[in-house]
Amino acid sequence: MITIKNKQFVRLIPKEKIQARTAEIAQDLNTAYADKNPIFLGVLNGCFMFLAEMFKHIEIPCQVSFTKVQSYESMQSSGKVLELIGIPEDVKGRHVVLVEDIIDTGLTMQSVMAKLKLQKPSSISVVTLLHKAAATKIPLQIDHVGFVIENNFVVGFGLDFDGYGRNYEDILVVSDQANS
Ligand code: IMP
Ligand code: MG
Repeated sequence: MITIKNKQFVRLIPKEKIQARTAEIAQDLNTAYADKNPIFLGVLNGCFMFLAEMFKHIEIPCQVSFTKVQSYESMQSSGKVLELIGIPEDVKGRHVVLVEDIIDTGLTMQSVMAKLKLQKPSSISVVTLLHKAAATKIPLQIDHVGFVIENNFVVGFGLDFDGYGRNYEDILVVSDQANS
């Protein structure tokens, strides 16, 4: 049991599995983008650990940039997506790989995607470490998923509960939802 603020969490995905799956995704991207000079666009804050882990295994010429949005309030989606750092203009004409920590309702990805398309990239693909597939109500093309998980609140490996818990290397799930 791990206590973060006032909630108890238990381990859901150990770091070894996260590392192995992330390396696999990186290898797929090395192949798919070998001659494409992609720009990885991370969605802050949650993506930072996943993107860093993935980048250890990316072996092709590429760049990285970030956008920052906020949609979650504590343990649920607010239904609104607030843009805190916009899409960089240098994505025009580039092959963009969007990198997310988790896709839940899909609202964040839908909003980032709409803003990104205005900058006219050559192509967009979406990579997410986690996908709460049953919670996603918006039709989205998600090209690479680390793990499909149940519709429970998770933290760790970059994901937070009210700003806390990002530092854990495992993915943890809130304990009163662990068996639901
Ligand atoms: P969506 O807009 O509902 O798809 O939510 C996406 C964003 O909400 C993610 O990028 C996360 O920042 C946050 N989020 C969604 N589910 C969780 C969770 O279980 N734990 C922590 N953050 C979450
Ligand atoms: Mg996020």
